[in-house]
Amino acid sequence: MKRVAVLTSGGDAPGMNAAIRAVVRCGISRGWEMYGVKNGYAGLISGNIFQMGTRDVGGILQKGGTILGSARCDEFRTVEGRLKAIRSLRQVGIDVLMVIGGNGSQTGSFELSKMDFPVIGIASTIDNDLFGSDLTIGVDTALNIALEALDRLKVTASSHQRAFLLEVMGRDCGYLALMSGIAGGAEAIVLPEVEVDPEVIAQKLHQSYEHGKAHAIVVVAEGAKYNAEGLTKYFQEHKERLGFSVRATTLGHVQRGGEPSASDRILASRLGAGAIEAAERGEYGVLVGIKGNDIVTTKLEEVVSSKKGIDLDLLRLAQLLD
Ligand code: F6P
Repeated sequence: MKRVAVLTSGGDAPGMNAAIRAVVRCGISRGWEMYGVKNGYAGLISGNIFQMGTRDVGGILQKGGTILGSARCDEFRTVEGRLKAIRSLRQVGIDVLMVIGGNGSQTGSFELSKMDFPVIGIASTIDNDLFGSDLTIGVDTALNIALEALDRLKVTASSHQRAFLLEVMGRDCGYLALMSGIAGGAEAIVLPEVEVDPEVIAQKLHQSYEHGKAHAIVVVAEGAKYNAEGLTKYFQEHKERLGFSVRATTLGHVQRGGEPSASDRILASRLGAGAIEAAERGEYGVLVGIKGNDIVTTKLEEVVSSKKGIDLDLLRLAQLLD
């Protein structure tokens, strides 16, 4: 019999609830005692840990956000904070902690595992920047929200001689921008990973009109040097010469708020179940992710010390299609 606690940490991602549900139900099916931690690492430090039963995770599969709450916790970055967290876990007799979250959260998991506490990470972030998983929980939903916004912008853009910028989230990763740009047929895509000259973007927008396109949309990643603010400023300063005006839409947290798509619910359920299987094997200090169609584990040490690059083939495809 094991006592397993689960928490969600960092930016919430659609599908986190499905992962909590899978962890709790798969654990209980093995006869284990399952616990939830409120508000991520902050709840761990304050000892906000409570037992969860099968019904406590009923009716949450289709809900965005996280029923456990999340937080970005500065105290946990300190050794004292982490020692408090371990004390709280030991007080309840927890054997294993499961952390559903992205890069920052898994850095926290790794720190705990270095202090000899058994931890298993579950790959979840809309940014899709986590090494060790091709896809992370929340990406598909966030991508579809960005795509819907892009499709809507196209409608209004087609009615005006204006260029539109759509800024999507992703921190310093261009995945969401690249994929929504391809799926939505953007005229240009600006990523943090690729240096871009705003004059080249301006030329592309001009060419779009010259080729008779009714709209000109640029998808920009929030982490790019020329994000919506940077590009708007540049185009504004050169408005007379460039001959067009520009409108910017920043999607921001809207992208995180959707009901999880079918893909995210299934991915989250599989990763949650995979984390329980890893605990059964006694495999700790790992991240549970997906590669191809396989649920795999990767050492947290490798996860936090590696960077997931942008797919250059997809980037070339985007350039061919714009
Ligand atoms: O990591 C997820 C994410 O939504 C990023 O895309 C974004 O840069 C960041 O979180 C925003 O953080 P916060 O919700 O703390 O403002």
